Amino acid sequence: MEIILNDLMLTLCMLLVRAEFCKQLVDAKGLETIKHIMTTYPSSEKINRQCFKLLKALAGNDHCKALIIQNEFAPVILSVLQANKKNVTVAVAGLHCVSALCLRSPENSNALINTGIPEIIVVLMRMHPNENSIQKTASWAIRNLVSRNKSEINVFLELGTEELLLAALKKFQDISYDIKAALRDLNCNVQLKEEWTGKGGALTTGYLKDNN
Ligand SMILES: *[C@@H]1O[C@H](CO)[C@@H](O)[C@H](O)[C@H]1NC(C)=O
Ligand SMILES: *[C@@H]1O[C@H](CO)[C@@H](O)[C@H](O)[C@H]1NC(C)=O
Repeated sequence: MEIILNDLMLTLCMLLVRAEFCKQLVDAKGLETIKHIMTTYPSSEKINRQCFKLLKALAGNDHCKALIIQNEFAPVILSVLQANKKNVTVAVAGLHCVSALCLRSPENSNALINTGIPEIIVVLMRMHPNENSIQKTASWAIRNLVSRNKSEINVFLELGTEELLLAALKKFQDISYDIKAALRDLNCNVQLKEEWTGKGGALTTGYLKDNN
């Protein structure tokens, strides 16, 4: 059963490059089916990774993006992320999905924030400090969640997000653009927070790639 679902999901993902198919899927109660699958198999890594990819693809259409959150996906996304937080692949797909859902949508962002998505983002960043892909997609999600509504910044600052982003900035030069963009959208002073690494005098945001 899980294998069939996985294949189905992959096929749907490929079909979704066509925007009109996206609307058809939503009209045909496709969202209800995806939600049913996610709530029935909350711990299946393969299925949920595909579901996250599918939702992300659907979110490329503004109408679908709004419908996903109106169909109460926020708590489903949260519980699937919680159930799979140890699996980097699934968590990255989930963070990617969250960032697509809140891109240019303060309504979706507010719903996801009120559901507790900032808390799980911070949990994932703390659990996987050495995973570049987690730190990068978390930065994207944070940025999109706050960029259209500065009143949402505080929840992230209170969770210690600035310190986590600065730690990631020191560690991963190759994603410094993504992390700095998140810091800037959190109204943090990026320039002032840059420190000397003490390694050959390179700035943390500089060109030495072999610090770790
Ligand atoms: C994480 O989930 C993927 C499926 O998305 C699976 O292939 C992989 O084995 C899992 N990794 C771990 C460490 O459990
Ligand atoms: C912006 O964020 C505040 C604080 O969470 C919230 O009360 C308000 O409804 C949000 N605005 C929109 C357009 O979602």
